[in-house]
Amino acid sequence: MKVILETIDLKKSFKMGKIENLVLRGISLQIKQGEFVAIMGPSGCGKSTLLHIMGGLLTPTSGKVLVEGEDISSVSDAKRTEIRRKKIGFVFQRFNLFPTLTAEGNLKLAERIYSGNGGNSARRHEILRLLQLEDKMHHKPSELSGGEQQRVALARAIINNPAIVLADEPTGSLDSENSAVVLEMFKKLNSHFGQTIVMITHNPEAAAVCHRIIYMRDGMILGEKSVES
Ligand SMILES: Nc1ncnc2c1ncn2[C@@H]1O[C@H](COP(=O)(O)OP(=O)(O)OP(=O)(O)O)[C@@H](O)[C@H]1O
Ligand SMILES: [Mg+2]
Repeated sequence: MKVILETIDLKKSFKMGKIENLVLRGISLQIKQGEFVAIMGPSGCGKSTLLHIMGGLLTPTSGKVLVEGEDISSVSDAKRTEIRRKKIGFVFQRFNLFPTLTAEGNLKLAERIYSGNGGNSARRHEILRLLQLEDKMHHKPSELSGGEQQRVALARAIINNPAIVLADEPTGSLDSENSAVVLEMFKKLNSHFGQTIVMITHNPEAAAVCHRIIYMRDGMILGEKSVES
């Protein structure tokens, strides 16, 4: 299987005054096409930092990130932004939707930002249908439940057909019922459409729907496990 995203000996340190805090201590991993991978580990071990670097939101102190073979860590900020918009879909714990726009409006905005045009209304409706949001598309975020808002965020992440979806605790703000629905959607995207997904989670039920779990600790990969399906 084709490798979609690869990190090579990633290191990241943050300077706080005179103190340098080494948060990632050499992370090498490969995510293959169609994989659904969970990243687990204690709070503060560097999971979000890793995900942000994988998606080009942050640059590493050393090491490389290759997205479909292209090194995003050594290009200009403008080029990295362009690659990110084309190839990466993000989902965060807090849904980060635009509050004044409807569900459909949020998707249209993403289409405009990512592809520079008005988007494809057939695809937009297909995705809204897939995520069972058809009857909510004219609702604003304040008129949606947490689970529905996260499904809109997921719709937004995939609207531009990214090579990979990176999700940082997507069920972290949801109750167990809404978590289950959102996880079901992630699973469906992966199994029916082959969407490659990396998901940080503290939730064992979320990790259980993935193919592979990567365990982190203190800025390093401790090990990994395949999940029986
Ligand atoms: N911009 C920053 N400046 C300084 N330190 C930072 C910065 N971002 C993260 N850190 C530090 O890096 C470490 C790892 O943070 P990170 O957010 O990656 O952890 P995490 O594994 O995602 O934790 P959680 O499970 O709580 O979300 C923490 O000690 C944090 O304080
Ligand atoms: Mg985090």
